[in-house]
Amino acid sequence: MTVDTRRATPQDAGAISGIWAIICAERDTTAVNRPFTAQQEADYIAALSEREGVFVAEADGEMVGFQTLDLWAKYTDSFDHVGVVGTFVLPGQRRAGIGQRLAAHTLAFARAHGYEKLVIYVRARNTRAQAFYRSLGFAPKGILERQVKLDGAYDDEVFMELFL
Ligand SMILES: CC(C)(COP(=O)(O)OP(=O)(O)OC[C@H]1O[C@@H](n2cnc3c(N)ncnc32)[C@H](O)[C@@H]1OP(=O)(O)O)[C@@H](O)C(=O)NCCC(=O)NCCS
Repeated sequence: MTVDTRRATPQDAGAISGIWAIICAERDTTAVNRPFTAQQEADYIAALSEREGVFVAEADGEMVGFQTLDLWAKYTDSFDHVGVVGTFVLPGQRRAGIGQRLAAHTLAFARAHGYEKLVIYVRARNTRAQAFYRSLGFAPKGILERQVKLDGAYDDEVFMELFL
């Protein structure tokens, strides 16, 4: 299997939306409960600044995952060195190094674009994703209690950070 990573364009929105639909249906991984439509995804990609991006992984030409990099906040310059990441790999393709490949791409992009640290927040019950981020060097920094309420059930969120 040949895996390639690249920056997404609005033309990738349909494939990314398809991955969102599958992962949102899992219910126990992400706090996102409604998959973004292709139009929402295309608008989001088109609106990203030069320092942000969606990075996609393709295995033998088929999209199998993506990773997002957004600025922590845009209302002040004092957070310009902080990025927020999210990672999504199709269920059948997990534990094959795709997340790691995406992270290599995103971290190199982040370093080249002036970020000094990355932050992620992961649902407490999503211990697989926490293990994934720990493997990249992210350290857990705290827990926000009952931060997620999905299908009437609460979950906490774990904040993690990585200095680049
Ligand atoms: C979390 C996720 C992105 C990991 O992607 P992946 O492609 O499976 O990860 P990789 O194969 O690159 O794993 C790299 C390392 O992370 C750790 N890791 C990944 N998945 C793990 C798991 N299920 N259990 C324990 N460790 C895990 C391991 O150290 C692994 O290295 P190893 O396989 O050599 O032991 C993927 O499971 C996923 O998309 N989950 C659903 C969406 C989600 O939870 N996203 C996070 C919300 S921000």
